[in-house]
Amino acid sequence: MRMVVKIAGALLEHDEDVQKLARQITELARAGHELLVVHGGGRIFTATLARMGITSRFVNGLRVTDRETRDAAIMVFAGLLNKKLAGAISLAGQPAVGISAADAASFLAEPLQVDDHEGGLGFVGYLTEVNVDFLRSLWREGIVPVASCMGLGADGELYNINADHMAAAAAEFIRADRLIFLTDVAGVLDGEKVLRAVRGTEIEDLIRRNKVSGGMILKLEAAKRALAGGVAEVRIVGGTQPRALASAASGMRGPGTRVLPVMRTSAKAAHGAAQ
Ligand SMILES: Nc1ncnc2c1ncn2[C@@H]1O[C@H](COP(=O)(O)OP(=O)(O)OP(=O)(O)O)[C@@H](O)[C@H]1O
Ligand SMILES: [Mg+2]
Repeated sequence: MRMVVKIAGALLEHDEDVQKLARQITELARAGHELLVVHGGGRIFTATLARMGITSRFVNGLRVTDRETRDAAIMVFAGLLNKKLAGAISLAGQPAVGISAADAASFLAEPLQVDDHEGGLGFVGYLTEVNVDFLRSLWREGIVPVASCMGLGADGELYNINADHMAAAAAEFIRADRLIFLTDVAGVLDGEKVLRAVRGTEIEDLIRRNKVSGGMILKLEAAKRALAGGVAEVRIVGGTQPRALASAASGMRGPGTRVLPVMRTSAKAAHGAAQ
């Protein structure tokens, strides 16, 4: 099975979490799955920017990224975090390479245009192409690609891409069977309760009722996009739970929340959503 595994920045903050995930990734790769790992880095990046005296500003959950912020993003995402994760997986027993957009032009981007922010978002992009041949060459050798959330523009500049958008778009481009978002909460929450499944219309409802906010809105939108783009299965799972990734990657049941396509209206699917 071909899978995209998106790892939240928060899960890279503690070495035990990183090692736990690295072991599960190794296990899945050894079982013959073709994995693309994509990671975020929000909080660590914000803290680094604060140390540099740069204030973070967000528009609709997306970080306004001037050149200085973008350069720091390369250092943190493509440097520190990317190597930390690739190193942990390699040490867990499966060779992994950390790649950023610039390497083999693996991920291409175009600048994201927004109407409601004067001057635009700066170096914020959206994914337009994935070098699937390059990824395939890594998979053939049993190497796990670990990608930071950046894209290479036609102008030679690197663009910051929201990691959820990147994971969802990459899943679509590489025709992944499954997309797993590992995050710092147990799944999509309605108050205290982890929803076992959500589908299109419910997502809008949750947003309208302010049950979902911030990064989770972007994640659900990204999940919907991946489903519409042909990815069969999308899950949002708490990454610190023991064996969270391994069980999300296997069978139909599993921890966290399944995001279901809008169109499926069979009795079985409706029952699943109501659980
Ligand atoms: N209904 C909800 N259920 C779960 N989380 C929610 C909900 N509403 C808001 N959130 C917030 O969304 C956060 C997850 O999104 P966030 O962008 O912070 O992390 P991520 O996307 O997993 O990682 P990264 O941004 O580093 O890639 C949770 O930590 C929580 O604070
Ligand atoms: Mg996020």
